[in-house]
Amino acid sequence: PIIEPFDYIVFGGTGDLAKRKLLPALYHRDLDGQLPETSRIIGSARAEMTRKAFQTLVQKSLEEFVGPDALDKTVLKRFLDRLYFISCDATAARGWPDLAKLLNHEPRAIRVFYLATSPELYGTIADNIHAHKLQTPETRIVLEKPIGHDLASAREINDRVGAVFEERNIFRIDHYLGKETVQNLLVLRFANSLFEPVWNHNGIDHVQITVSETVGVEERGGYYDHTGAMRDMIQNHLMQLLCLVAIEPPSTLDREAVRDEKIKVLKSLAPITQNEISTKTVRGQYRAGAINGGPVKAYADEKDIVPGSTTETFAALKVEVKNWRWAGVPFYLRSGKRLPEKVSEIVIQFKPVPYWIFPTGSDHAQPNRLVIRVQPNEHIRLHLWTKEPGPGGLRLRNAPLNLSFAETFKGHLPDAYERLLMDVVRGNATLFMRRDEVEAAWEWTESILDAWKNSGERPKLYTAGTWGPSEAIAMIVRDNRTWFDEQAGDFPGD
Ligand code: BG6
Repeated sequence: PIIEPFDYIVFGGTGDLAKRKLLPALYHRDLDGQLPETSRIIGSARAEMTRKAFQTLVQKSLEEFVGPDALDKTVLKRFLDRLYFISCDATAARGWPDLAKLLNHEPRAIRVFYLATSPELYGTIADNIHAHKLQTPETRIVLEKPIGHDLASAREINDRVGAVFEERNIFRIDHYLGKETVQNLLVLRFANSLFEPVWNHNGIDHVQITVSETVGVEERGGYYDHTGAMRDMIQNHLMQLLCLVAIEPPSTLDREAVRDEKIKVLKSLAPITQNEISTKTVRGQYRAGAINGGPVKAYADEKDIVPGSTTETFAALKVEVKNWRWAGVPFYLRSGKRLPEKVSEIVIQFKPVPYWIFPTGSDHAQPNRLVIRVQPNEHIRLHLWTKEPGPGGLRLRNAPLNLSFAETFKGHLPDAYERLLMDVVRGNATLFMRRDEVEAAWEWTESILDAWKNSGERPKLYTAGTWGPSEAIAMIVRDNRTWFDEQAGDFPGD
């Protein structure tokens, strides 16, 4: 192993995120031989549970989320042996001495506290870590998004956690930054010379960022209903994607250099004012419909949703980055639950050629597009015009140069959390959010949330299994543009 032994303590250790993502990610790192022999993983939750019961629960989750056939028996055993469980009440005294005892008995060089709990508990957990003297010089804390509910609560969390941990040891996670294709954005832009000359208002017409999901709110109604798409997805994941598309070249990959550039983008976002919300924003909520041919309920009828809830499950925005590079280049963002497919994608649409000399295609002339598919079927496609082979007339076809990750790089594409969880152990925070970034993203988002609230309007209903309210389509069509739809194809002349 390339790292020193560590203890990973997961608060919310029996929760959805731990079961679905964190524990499978740590298992994969173990499989790859990246976990030192004596490293321990300590789950913590309020419920009472024996170590054995926790091990069984984790084994079940691994079977479900890694797949029973993909599990290696020897590694599974080794992994389960690393697990401990401490029942601990974040807001009371109970459990903390037990945790201290376990940690201090043969202490490991590095400690990571991962807070996969409600953000309201972050400050209290940090206080308790301090009060029970659980910090070693190499102790880091990981905060899951959303960091707070708005700017004020984010500041409060940052203050309280910041009173206990130095900024270099605070890792605010946004798992989108760990996705392979997202990291690839930096490589694509800054390791290839051909894009930079056109990566600005001269070459680019507009940018689209779509993060769509087919799932509804599942078991997370309680959390989601007071969160909504804007806080759950746009404030963090989509903002981070936007930043990476828009940043200036950092001078190094050093964490401060990259984050210094991201904050400049966030500070350049034009605020959306009260009277712009009807033209630059759309909020929606799904009604009953069908996903993959199967009927699904309305949001309002999901478990734990307050009657008459006005929470948005879909949001679309037209965003302007007010700086030299991006003047006049809108960024259209959309994200929602119960949409027709699960896809995260960035589309860079270039400007059309100044004059069209070809006999066909002029009516539909789609300009070049660079499609960065974050998930699934990760790929980067550059859509170009080409001549369709054949002796007949000159027929043009819009066809992609296709870099498929599965075809080009065989083998297991690591989940975002695998990279990020180990970055924390290594103390590498480049792919994590700095305090000022989180706060700047909140500040911008909050003005829209406030404007929505002041408007008193309910979200527009959309049928589950469609691309959100028709207003989201109208928003972009008004600008003579359309949302990119690969399936729709664009083969003028056919
Ligand atoms: C989480 C949100 O941050 O991201 C969830 O809280 C959402 O609501 C999830 O489903 C999507 O992540 P991914 O990696 O599946 O795109």
